[in-house]
Amino acid sequence: MCGIVGYLGYREPKEILFKGLKRLEYRGYDSAGIALFQEGKIQVKRCLGKLSQLEEVIQEASYHSTPTQNTYIGIGHTRWATHGKPSEKNAHPHQAGPIVLVHNGIIENYALLREKLLSKGHILSSETDSEVVAYLIYDYFKKGLSFEEAVFLAIQELKGSYSLGILCEEEPTKLIAVRNGTPLVVGVGEKENFIASDIPALLEYTKRFMYLNDHEMVIFTPGHLQVKNIEGREIKKEINYINWTQEMVEKGGYQHFMLKEIHEQPQAIINTLQDRVSKDKHALYLKDLKLSEADIKNIRKIFLVACGTAFHASMVGKYLIEEMTRIPCELDLASEFRYRDPIIKKGDLLIITSQSGETADSLAALREAKKRGATVISICNVKGSSIDRESDSTIYTYAGPEIGVASTKAFMTQLTVFNLLAIHLGLTLKTLSLEKATPYVQDLVRLPYYVEEILKQEPNIKKIAQKFYRKKTFLYLGRGLSFPIALEGALKLKEISYINAEGYAAGEMKHGPIALVDDDTPVIILAPQDKYYEKVLSNLEEIKAREGIVIAIGSEGDTHLEKISDYFISIPKKSDNITPLLLTLPVQLIAYYIAVKKGTDVDQPRNLAKSVTVE
Ligand code: M6R
Repeated sequence: MCGIVGYLGYREPKEILFKGLKRLEYRGYDSAGIALFQEGKIQVKRCLGKLSQLEEVIQEASYHSTPTQNTYIGIGHTRWATHGKPSEKNAHPHQAGPIVLVHNGIIENYALLREKLLSKGHILSSETDSEVVAYLIYDYFKKGLSFEEAVFLAIQELKGSYSLGILCEEEPTKLIAVRNGTPLVVGVGEKENFIASDIPALLEYTKRFMYLNDHEMVIFTPGHLQVKNIEGREIKKEINYINWTQEMVEKGGYQHFMLKEIHEQPQAIINTLQDRVSKDKHALYLKDLKLSEADIKNIRKIFLVACGTAFHASMVGKYLIEEMTRIPCELDLASEFRYRDPIIKKGDLLIITSQSGETADSLAALREAKKRGATVISICNVKGSSIDRESDSTIYTYAGPEIGVASTKAFMTQLTVFNLLAIHLGLTLKTLSLEKATPYVQDLVRLPYYVEEILKQEPNIKKIAQKFYRKKTFLYLGRGLSFPIALEGALKLKEISYINAEGYAAGEMKHGPIALVDDDTPVIILAPQDKYYEKVLSNLEEIKAREGIVIAIGSEGDTHLEKISDYFISIPKKSDNITPLLLTLPVQLIAYYIAVKKGTDVDQPRNLAKSVTVE
């Protein structure tokens, strides 16, 4: 879950590396470092803390790169600690003799390798698994092998996940990168090439990318790059053009990426719906879904699997798909699914939802299902990511790059896709009539305007939220399609404000969580006027009877709800199936404004990383 960057080309790379790391800081931010060639020697600078600290360390003019045969090389890293606590000595790059490397991933057999290296007399100075890799390469190099041969043999010994950027002081015009299990892209430029954990790091310099597969290694030399597989055979890779822009990965005047991304939601929904709905709203085109009518008719069971926020979107997906298709759906957390010997086979469909397309547990669940013969489709935001490439087909969410650690616009577009998919499957199977589908599709198409309407209430939501930033516990309640949004609201609050929040199915409240309610507990009740409305009102009364503070989010014009709640936020009254998207916006804004008032680091909350590429 760390971020790595690397450069080989004609420009002095200190700034390129630092800016790249800045764009990857969402992946980890407990320590950082870079390595540059200076007068033929590799100079490493590292520090504990965020990149702002590294900036101070590297800013002195004397720390800069000098070219060897007109070529500059450098690598950089921003860390999310796995092995060894955050500290300067555990920060990357790690050095072993002439070998210097940055690593993202986990080396599972590092303890064994470390013992072996220590017994050979190597002296390791950090507690990390990554330094072991540097020494392993050095151990081979020392025997008289070339840099490339040493890397090649060392990686054969590694178990686990790794993307690596590696330099060798004795071969100063070469950069080697390896990928296995954690993301790594190659940015292809003119007489310069790059590596990075993610595309946004390089958008300022190139829009042309190569996606590496596991067990692939790239050797960069001046003006040239060569990709090899685990057998050492050269392979040809396709170059993909990315149409994301530089502005998309900047804050654009907002205080935080999260707020910017909340405001981008209407546009993200438009982009996700674009070209997928016919003008008369009678047909949906999911061209990227490669399932024929016969394939759809043969689906026996659907499994929806994901992590975190994407899991909450999948829960909405389960409710929608079951309702529209009557196909039984099973919902699972990817970390559970992958190990619980799931009963999934040929004829079953697995839907993996992931913003990044790189979440380790989701990827493992996908592989498990494929191994057992299931068809896999993914709902994914990042083209070319591992989950995208390994799925039988991908329905893309066009949220654009999401930088804030708390997922917002990706969630909204995942919900949009689940609506489209459920309608498409229902119409194909004729379990959903055109008559029923048309008004629902019409609401879906107008969704961006409804979201804009709710955004107009932002000042009011902010005022409400700011009253509660000192509270210790929140409860979020919802029923039916509102339940996953209660879970999502609680997750958002927890992750960015560090306030304990429980999301519950409102009907479950009396089975335990009601014990939490007192006059100091804000309870956020999702009570749109859907088929659960009366039931939720009863739950609300139960909370009032115990003096809980009720913040209700309900349908506009619901004066009764407004009267019986302490605070009321309204959403447009539309089809039940799009209501989860409308409820989402207020819960995101509540979490955001509580966190801002509390003064936490909204975009980079403690202990978290955006892309969880380790188990
Ligand atoms: O990239 P993914 O959608 O697979 O990520 C899944 C979760 O790690 C992610 O949704 C996480 O829960 C977010 N921080 C929630 O805001």
